[in-house]
Amino acid sequence: MFTLGAFTEIRPPAVVAGFCEPSQKLGLLGAATRTTHVNEAEAAVTATSRTPARALGLDVDGLVFGCDYNPEQWDSSVWADDVRLMQQAGINLVAINIFGWSQVEPRDGSFQFGDLDRIIALLTEAGIGINLGTGTSSPPPWLTTAHPEILPTAADETRRWPGGRQAWCPSSPVFREKAIRLVTVTAERYGSHPGVKLWHVSNELGCHNAHCYCDESAAAFRRWLRSRYGDIEALNAAWGTTFWSQHYAEWDEILPPRTTLSLANSAQQLDFDRFSSDELLSYYRAEAEAVRRFSSVPVTTNFMVTAHIKTQDYWTWADDMDVIANDHYLDHRLPVPGRELSFAADVTRGIAGGQPWLLMESSTSAVNWQPINHAKSAGQLKRDSLTHLARGADGVCFFQWRASVRGAEKFHSALLPHSGTGSRIWSEVVELGSIMGRLSEIVGTAVTSDIAFVFSWESWWATDLDAHPSSDLRYLDQVHALYAALLDVGATVDVVAPGAPLDGYRLVVVPTLYLVSDDDAAVINEFVAGGGHAVVTFFSGIVDETDGIRLGGYPGAFREMLGVTVDEFYPLGAADVLTLTDGSTSTLWSENLSLTAATSIAEYASGPLSGVPAVTRNDHGQGVGWYLATELAPDALSGLLRRIVVEASAREFVELAPGVEVVRRRGADRDYVFILNHTDQPVAHPFAGQELLSEAAVTTTGTVDAGGVHIIRQEHEKP
Ligand code: GLA
Repeated sequence: MFTLGAFTEIRPPAVVAGFCEPSQKLGLLGAATRTTHVNEAEAAVTATSRTPARALGLDVDGLVFGCDYNPEQWDSSVWADDVRLMQQAGINLVAINIFGWSQVEPRDGSFQFGDLDRIIALLTEAGIGINLGTGTSSPPPWLTTAHPEILPTAADETRRWPGGRQAWCPSSPVFREKAIRLVTVTAERYGSHPGVKLWHVSNELGCHNAHCYCDESAAAFRRWLRSRYGDIEALNAAWGTTFWSQHYAEWDEILPPRTTLSLANSAQQLDFDRFSSDELLSYYRAEAEAVRRFSSVPVTTNFMVTAHIKTQDYWTWADDMDVIANDHYLDHRLPVPGRELSFAADVTRGIAGGQPWLLMESSTSAVNWQPINHAKSAGQLKRDSLTHLARGADGVCFFQWRASVRGAEKFHSALLPHSGTGSRIWSEVVELGSIMGRLSEIVGTAVTSDIAFVFSWESWWATDLDAHPSSDLRYLDQVHALYAALLDVGATVDVVAPGAPLDGYRLVVVPTLYLVSDDDAAVINEFVAGGGHAVVTFFSGIVDETDGIRLGGYPGAFREMLGVTVDEFYPLGAADVLTLTDGSTSTLWSENLSLTAATSIAEYASGPLSGVPAVTRNDHGQGVGWYLATELAPDALSGLLRRIVVEASAREFVELAPGVEVVRRRGADRDYVFILNHTDQPVAHPFAGQELLSEAAVTTTGTVDAGGVHIIRQEHEKP
């Protein structure tokens, strides 16, 4: 059965042709389109024209197909062969020198660029672009030996030693001085090298070392607090220090939230999260500034949204990036890992303000850092990569070129596995490379949606703090559940920051937005008053930016818009399941809710809250606010969201079958409809046009093989 919104009827937006010359540098990516910063022009655009197509801006032809390359791990006799095989696979961008510090600067102040010169020359002669690492990700042993004070310190004040990676404190002035010296020397040497197409600052900043609790970090935290609050009494008020005798008389009394005997101050923890994100952003800026002194090539670093790096508020990082780049690895600890892949891709597109972005790392098959490291099934490498492309990536890269022989990552998959070119992985890599070469026409096209999905790092940090009604309520679980239900319904969503303008959207989905400022809540409330639809889930609108409770009944900031008031939470035990009057079931959470204006859609039919509304709908102004006060079972949640999406007249949803994703990339003259079949059954679809992978014309309907992908090119009708 096909359930179609008006997806196929949407008129393409006017897009400025020729806007995306390959040589355009992404330094011009356009801060004005960022979701966190509103301007009038942006507020005026509609959902279908919000994201005019623009290319990544790298001086690389077509889609990027790349990898990390660590030639220093190999004898130089294999380098020429590496480059030949890269050409065979269609690789056009190679990230090098990511962990190069101890090779390039083996002793303090003594630089040896010979090997890097040779590698850069080899790649450049072969026409392979270079994504040049600044090399600062892991300090060399001479540095940690001479300056052990740069090592990170955990909350219990124990030190984290070298021997792994990222063993440095983000606030260490010594580390920063030595790192910036290396970046400066490297940028001076290669800043105008024609082979360098992109600068790669450090690596996944905050992956391991985001929170450091040393004295240097304490001093930096105090400086950050002084600039945020100005006055110590403002800090005392925000942190609620009258509680448990915590009033600060002097700034010097303040510490990072080191390990305490009892529960710790939540506002202090939250500010430390903010500080820790800002501190690494400031570090990124210092490296980027050093690079830009010598180079006009775009600069970026690789993010890791959302399953693996929680510590960085990437909404605040976006404007500093010339290219938004993400690393993504399937996490088999999640129930359906592929759904998180789609979500991470959508978050990355959101950070990019709807513009194309780059998948900087992914794996050809298994990783090595999960308890059980599952290999990808035949065809999955292609499907996963094309899922990223469908959701707005203009390039797909991998960690790493050759599987290592030694070190902590020797069981991590690579493009060239231990078994060599006779392997299944290698033939799938070569096939993917050839597909990427043929898909260059999608470069610069953009995904659009009329459903906004609010995602907030601050709410993530705050929701997951301790001393809450239930430690089983985790922000990301709720986000994933709502997103999965929307995938089931076939909806494409734009992930937006709290406070992002909602003009042009028809529906905004707000999962567990526990912490929200007055201004950001007003954007959602006014959107509904003006005719939009919103769905808000439990434990939203509870606190302001200082983690201070909003009084007068939950869900504080959204109470009026939703037409409900809640006086007490009733979290459920791990095994508890409630039945609702519509026959559905729910878990985790319930609330003693009263209707003030809303209508009850379903009530609890069991448990202490029998008869109390669990799902409500409120006509508010010109729009509608839905509230879900409990965690609905997945089927019930998708059923409800289907109803809400239809009622909101959202247009961009196509429900083919569970496990099948349909995403449209829109260009100036034609659209590309990606149909991604994650199931083990063939699936029929209704899209007519040319199928790009097989180069077959699909007239009225097509059938995507089990595990397969179709990309249908649809020409726009001429006016
Ligand atoms: C991260 C890092 C890489 C490598 C991979 C392995 O993405 O950036 O250096 O460790 O993980 O999955």
